[in-house]
Amino acid sequence: MNDKKRAARGERTIMAVGKSAQDETWSGKAAFVLAAIGSAVGIGNLVRFPYVAGDSGGGAFVLIYLLAVFAIGLPVLMAELFIGRRGGGTPIAAIQRLAKADGASGSWTLMGWIGMFASFGIVTFYSVIAGWLLYYAYVMVGDIAGNIGANGIAGIASPAFAGEDADGITGRFGALLSSPGKMILFHGIFITISTFIVTRGVKGGIEKAATWLMPIFFFLLVALSVISLIIGDAGAALGFLFAPDFGKLAADIKDGSVLINAVGQAFFSLSLGSALMLTYGIYLGRDTSIPNAATTVAFADTGVALIAGLAVFPVVFAFGLEPAGGLGLIFGPLLLAFNQMPFGALFGLAFFIMAVFAALTSAISLFEVPAAWAKGDNTLDEATRGRRRVIGSVIIGILIFVIGVFHALSQVPTDAADTFFNSWEPFGSLPVIGERTLLDAIDGLTGNVLLPLGGFLVAVFAGYVVTQSASREELGFKSVSNYQRWRFLIRYVCPVVVGAILVYGIGIAPFLG
Ligand code: PFF
Repeated sequence: MNDKKRAARGERTIMAVGKSAQDETWSGKAAFVLAAIGSAVGIGNLVRFPYVAGDSGGGAFVLIYLLAVFAIGLPVLMAELFIGRRGGGTPIAAIQRLAKADGASGSWTLMGWIGMFASFGIVTFYSVIAGWLLYYAYVMVGDIAGNIGANGIAGIASPAFAGEDADGITGRFGALLSSPGKMILFHGIFITISTFIVTRGVKGGIEKAATWLMPIFFFLLVALSVISLIIGDAGAALGFLFAPDFGKLAADIKDGSVLINAVGQAFFSLSLGSALMLTYGIYLGRDTSIPNAATTVAFADTGVALIAGLAVFPVVFAFGLEPAGGLGLIFGPLLLAFNQMPFGALFGLAFFIMAVFAALTSAISLFEVPAAWAKGDNTLDEATRGRRRVIGSVIIGILIFVIGVFHALSQVPTDAADTFFNSWEPFGSLPVIGERTLLDAIDGLTGNVLLPLGGFLVAVFAGYVVTQSASREELGFKSVSNYQRWRFLIRYVCPVVVGAILVYGIGIAPFLG
């Protein structure tokens, strides 16, 4: 349909408004896909997925997770991308323009504010955790240098922390948490690098970082998993990750936790509900097919999550160690495995460099959401927006640093020191987010409440507010039935499942005791 016909029908072509020549853009489809994969692949894939999968029924959970990614995550990912591309400007302005064009209330911008608040909230603690990973990379460099100093080049074959006992090795993490200065230093380094990249903009900063870091990341991931499968206990790892335990799954399904875990993990892992993919959509050219690009991102992210388990668990099981949940796995059993294997220090260094790279490409994407807002809408001229991006990013970077310092202080064990933040529970005794210190409270608020809420709103907005002709045109599916499938998922499946999870997770589960 041409613009005249559209005007005759009272529809406004907002593409021209949204996509002004002044918008920053990705240099092409490949650059965008790499940046989006860089955002999706992060600490969530390396740390959270493998353990949750192994612990919640192995292959049976993986099946539910795949369903959550492809039936719920993927349609929402496509929706976020097209809302951003069609609206243009900033995450808030994009939503405002689309709502206005479709005669909907301006309060839909609340969806953008929730997403922006979630992105900002996540990056404040994400940077602290990335700082821990960076610290361990630094420690591994020191370890390797020491080994080479003592034994010449043959020292490179040393295990990590040679000669240290198990308590000493796992105790290193407690020691790090008890040294706020160290945590703050490494968080500071990480956020300074992120700020620098974001000030450079879409092409010169984010895209460049992704095109340098992601190939190295993939190389390290594949190399580490191949080595781990060869020298480790591949059978035990594959069993833990993939052998379906339907009994465990059935028990967990009854209390709803599997579904919540699967959908929550899918949202977190695909970077959804945080207005982040919406922001990345703003920079997306018309010649990129959103369904194709989004499907590539979903496959790559899921593939990395699965392969990450193969890099970690074979060596952990080979040395008779028990996997632990979350970061405890990396700073406990995994380090002990590095301590028992030849070339363990080198393997460890490669692992932590890989983790830092994954974290960095995710952190800059989270950072970009408020930065894109600070930069201003495309009604401003390019020079002004450039200036506002730099000044805005620096201010946001400083805010992230300061709040991150509070997060770091909240992690100091109370018997090591009283930092105020390690006993302060900002949300008091509220369900879901209460009775936790700052870092865990913000983690719970964003992951369990804001991301699902953001995703729910995106699904309703894309499925009910945006006109059918607009979503069909933006998505540009090759076949009508694929569009109809997307529309069915976004209108019925996503809002119902995510809405039910929200209601259950916030309103019911906490009161079941
Ligand atoms: N997707 C990234 C990860 O899996 O670590 C980080 C992330 C980005 C989480 C955006 C959540 C989010 F909204």
